[in-house]
Amino acid sequence: MSIGIFDSGIGGVTLLHQAMITLPQEKYIFYADVDHVPYGTKSSQQVLGFVDEVMQFMIQHNCKAVVIACNTATSVAAEEMRRKYSIPIIGIEPAVKPAVQESGGRRVLVVATPLAVQEKKLKNLVKRVDESHLVDMLALPKLVEFAERGEFASEMVRQYLEELLSSYDLDKYGELVLGCTHFNYFKDTFRKLLPDQVKILDGSAGTIRQLARVLGERGALEEAPPCKMDNTPAVQYFLSGRELVNPEDLERMQRLHQRLEEMRHIL
Ligand code: DGL
Repeated sequence: MSIGIFDSGIGGVTLLHQAMITLPQEKYIFYADVDHVPYGTKSSQQVLGFVDEVMQFMIQHNCKAVVIACNTATSVAAEEMRRKYSIPIIGIEPAVKPAVQESGGRRVLVVATPLAVQEKKLKNLVKRVDESHLVDMLALPKLVEFAERGEFASEMVRQYLEELLSSYDLDKYGELVLGCTHFNYFKDTFRKLLPDQVKILDGSAGTIRQLARVLGERGALEEAPPCKMDNTPAVQYFLSGRELVNPEDLERMQRLHQRLEEMRHIL
């Protein structure tokens, strides 16, 4: 049985990439809901409907667990999906708690999509962990568009980020939390714009550790690498339900993994 991982688009490859490092013996179904990307500028009701459709797809494909590799979809839909479906559903949340703990009293900037910033879930999380009122939140809607166009390190990206970050006195900050899985593709530009003391945090490793824990508790982890006789690839990629089969599309996915591997080492 496979592990299902989905996002509105290519942001979810961040979690797939991490999962393939932590749990290399598993098989994966990756689903990018490109027909509906971006989620972050739509209404909660719309996103709930999209997520429900993807969940049904994952269940029809016999997944043993589903990772919602999207902070926006997690904040809008994770609880409702857990009520509706009985398979384990693991969501990603911005790493606000570790950021506050590690900031040494400096300020923390959480960047996310407009919908995630508006949603109660993120506000409640901040309220719970931010006793000293250190956290600021900033929506960066255009980064999802840049990512979906494959524009990761252009001058336009740099100008956009520079402009939005310019309203913050960054010398007062200790942590930048990436609260959208699409934002990992831009770590190199963030790094260039941030003072050295600002660390960049994201929730991918923690989310995949949680996935491993949940599957381990159920005795559902694969112990051996996928059987050699079995020709199904370790990852099947779907764009809103359509499987990617042609080599150019699959190569594009490989390039995203390469980009994320480079970004993974930027802190
Ligand atoms: N990658 C998603 C997230 O983590 C959402 C991007 C979007 O579709 O707006 O929030």
